[in-house]
Amino acid sequence: MPHIGLGRIYWFSAAHRLHSPSLSDAENFMIYDKCNNINGHGHDYKLEVTVSGELHPETGMIMSLAELDRVVNDLLKTMDYKHLNKETEFFKNHIATGEIIIQFLWQELNKRLPRNLLYHLKLWETNNNYFETGRKNR
Ligand code: NI
Repeated sequence: MPHIGLGRIYWFSAAHRLHSPSLSDAENFMIYDKCNNINGHGHDYKLEVTVSGELHPETGMIMSLAELDRVVNDLLKTMDYKHLNKETEFFKNHIATGEIIIQFLWQELNKRLPRNLLYHLKLWETNNNYFETGRKNR
């Protein structure tokens, strides 16, 4: 049987500044360009979450959408309308690139969702760039 996935889309808005403490100011500006702007800038992030697993015989579903919404929204509300570098514990010490944001989202959602259900994440930062991570096909 091919795997069956259940996908759902979430939105959150957040500000960040891309700046690496291990690089000089000039290097930071060269690498991150305008994203290194000292006061930061914002994005409307779109997050696609896919879970995959066995269907429950009683419900015919992988998991309840209400439960998925509760878990994802609980996490995203810690980031929504925040300046990530200044207002979230994790990004005070980690660079808020899309790559690291999606790594953080994976780790947190994987901890909070029922075991092994998280399958794929896709994080749109703008209309033109996205980041993704996930499991291999099972
Ligand atoms: Ni940005």
